[in-house]
Amino acid sequence: MPIKIEPLSNDLPFGARIVGVTRENSCDKEVRKQISEVFAERGMIVFEEMEPTNAMQVALSEAFGELESHALSDVPMADEDVRGMTDFNYVDVFEVDGEELSGWIPWHFDACYAKELNRGGVLRPILISPEGGRTGFADGVQMYKAINPDLRDCFERLDIIYHSHLMFTELRFGKPESFRAINISKPIADMIARTKSEPRSVHPAIWQRETGEKVLHVAPWQAAGIAGMETPEGDALLNELFAEIEAKVLPYWHSWKPTDMVIWDNWRFLHSVSGNPARFPRRMQRTTIKGDYGFGRLETAGSAAPVGLSL
Ligand SMILES: [Fe+2]
Repeated sequence: MPIKIEPLSNDLPFGARIVGVTRENSCDKEVRKQISEVFAERGMIVFEEMEPTNAMQVALSEAFGELESHALSDVPMADEDVRGMTDFNYVDVFEVDGEELSGWIPWHFDACYAKELNRGGVLRPILISPEGGRTGFADGVQMYKAINPDLRDCFERLDIIYHSHLMFTELRFGKPESFRAINISKPIADMIARTKSEPRSVHPAIWQRETGEKVLHVAPWQAAGIAGMETPEGDALLNELFAEIEAKVLPYWHSWKPTDMVIWDNWRFLHSVSGNPARFPRRMQRTTIKGDYGFGRLETAGSAAPVGLSL
């Protein structure tokens, strides 16, 4: 039976919805070609009516490339037999603008703190919260086109510094107006402490795909500042960009069903989690697909000067 492909929404310039992928046909050359083309063009895909098993999640992931381990060794595994299948059990609780939420994560791209950016992830739900717990997706191609051209020109040549340490309690950017940690689990507290000594990464704010589109790829989660401008003025400029993104972004918020799996292009998209009332459990698992877009680097000791970007 052929797979069925349709746009995610008529109101969005990105995203697709696919039904009909199975463990058997995910190895089929023609099916792989079709879903890879949709992925390249639309940047994220919601696969519906999937067999809800680890084996199906792996089979789907491998249709897009080889799997790799999570960039942070602290993140627990969901399946010891599957390289890079990580378990996200959201037990940490934060007060976010007056609401007690668990599982809240601001806009980010995965492994921003590393030199190499993985190709993407395949996410599937294990325990779905009856309220909240939606995953947001924001397209860097849409954001590039939508933001103020003067601000866009300004960021064309700027690089952004990220640091794995700057998460949750250590956030520098994207912090809600009222935000405090109510309960941080020991593994997360240990990870925040451990990552303090890790090197920082540098990524261009804007990069160009082989297909020609420019991508605005800047996220508040784990951002340290603008390379060469870690000053109040530089921070204000970055905050101006985040405010402009918030005003112009067309996000898609996914409400999960047990048989959904979602893949996104980590070189192009930001994603986030809305959080859910802390009384409900929520658990997800993700595979990581190996890759790199080739524009990141680790900061050398004492040097945060802009590297510029050859587009
Ligand atoms: Fe993520």
